[in-house]
Amino acid sequence: MNIDELRRIAELQEKLRNLPEIERFREALDKVKNFKSPEFERVNEIINNFRNIKFAELDKISSILENINNFKLPEIETIQRNLSELRIQLTGKKSELAGLKKLIGKVVPEERSAFGQVVQSVEKEVISTIDDADKRLKTAIIEAKTERERLDVTLPGVRPNVGHLHILTLLRQKIEDIFVSLGYSIEDDREIETDYYNFDALNIPEGHPARESQDTFYTTNSFALRSQTSTVQIRAMERRGVPIRIIAPGRVFRRDTPDLTHTPMFHQIEGLCVDKGITMAHLKGTVGEWLRRLFGKETRIRLRPSYFPFTEPSAEFDFSCFKCGGTGAFENERCRPCKGSGWIELGGSGMVHPNVLRACNVDPQVYSGFAFGFGLERMCSLMYSLDDIRLMFENDVRFLEQFR
Ligand code: DAH
Repeated sequence: MNIDELRRIAELQEKLRNLPEIERFREALDKVKNFKSPEFERVNEIINNFRNIKFAELDKISSILENINNFKLPEIETIQRNLSELRIQLTGKKSELAGLKKLIGKVVPEERSAFGQVVQSVEKEVISTIDDADKRLKTAIIEAKTERERLDVTLPGVRPNVGHLHILTLLRQKIEDIFVSLGYSIEDDREIETDYYNFDALNIPEGHPARESQDTFYTTNSFALRSQTSTVQIRAMERRGVPIRIIAPGRVFRRDTPDLTHTPMFHQIEGLCVDKGITMAHLKGTVGEWLRRLFGKETRIRLRPSYFPFTEPSAEFDFSCFKCGGTGAFENERCRPCKGSGWIELGGSGMVHPNVLRACNVDPQVYSGFAFGFGLERMCSLMYSLDDIRLMFENDVRFLEQFR
C-alpha cells in the first residue's frame, strides 16, 4: 500500500467518523483498507458513495420510526412505500451493493474470502435494517388502523340541543291534567265554523255585535274562523249527548290589531258540565278547585254578575292574586299581576242558557249545566309577568328557553 493510498484512506476515515450512521461500519472499513487488490480504489469509492448516500437514507427512516406514533395512517403508508423503493435502490440489481458483490470475483484470491465477508456483512446490515424498519411500519399500520376503527362506547356523545314544550302547551297540559282528574274529557274540534255553531246555536242572535264582521274572520262562503271555543259546547253535546263533562282547549281568531295584549289568534279553554241538578254552586266549586290546584289551596275565587248570550245567569270569575295572596301589595309595593286589587279577572262563565241546551236536543226541564271560558295567553302573561303577549308567538328561543 503506497503513501497516497494510505492518505486517501485516512481522509476517508476522517470523513466517515463524522457520519454517525457509518459508525457501525467502521470495523468493516478498517478491513477494506488493508486489501491490496488492484480493484481496491474502485471498491473504496463504491463503499464510500454507498455509505454516504444510502445509509443516510436508512438513518432518516430510523429517525422517522422513532416518532412513528406521531404519524397518521396515510403518512405511515407513504413511508412504507418509500422504504420499499429504498430496498430496491440499496439491494436491487443495479444497486451499489450488487456492484460490490460483482467485485468479489475480481479481488486477489488470498483476500477474496475476507472481502466477501465484508461485503456480506454490509449486505446483512442493510437488509436487516430494512426488514426491521418494515416490520415496525407494519405494526404501526395495524395499530393506526385499530386506533381509527376503535369505538369507545363509554364516551359521552355530542349532546343535541334538547327542545321542550312551549310555555302555552305546558300551561294547557297542567290545566288539562287537573280537569281530567276531576272526571272531565278533553275535546278538540274544528277551527273553521259555520254561523250556526259560531253564533245561532249559542243563542247569539242576528244583529248581535259579536257577529259583526269587524270582530270575526269570515270566508267568502259564510264560513268563519271561530272567535271562541264555546262552539265546542254545541259540537260536544251533539256528539256525546248529556250528561257531559268536557274541557275544550283550542285556537280562536279575532280581527284584532296585534299589540301588547292582543293577537288575531290566541287560545281559550272552554269548560262544560251538564247533568241533572247542576247549579251555580257546582260552577263555583269546580272553578275554585281547579284554581286551588294550580295556584295553591289558599286561592279564593269570586263571581261577578255579567252577561253572555249563551249563559243565564252569567258571571265573570276572578281569583285571589297568586303573588300577593289577595292583599294587593307585594314587598311593600303595589302588586303587579293584580294591579294592587288583590283579584285577577280570568274569564266568563254561567249557567248554560236553556236555548243552548234546546239547540242540542237537551231538555232544559231535566238537565242544567254550567260553562266557562278563559284565555290561555292572558293567564300565562299574568303568571309569568310577561308585558307583551306577542312574545309567546315570536318564538325567540331566548324567551322560550326560560319556561321548561
Ligand atoms: N266565550 C267567551 C269569550 O270568548 C267566554 C265564555 C263566557 C265562555 C261564558 C263560556 C261562558 O263558556 O259560559 O269571551
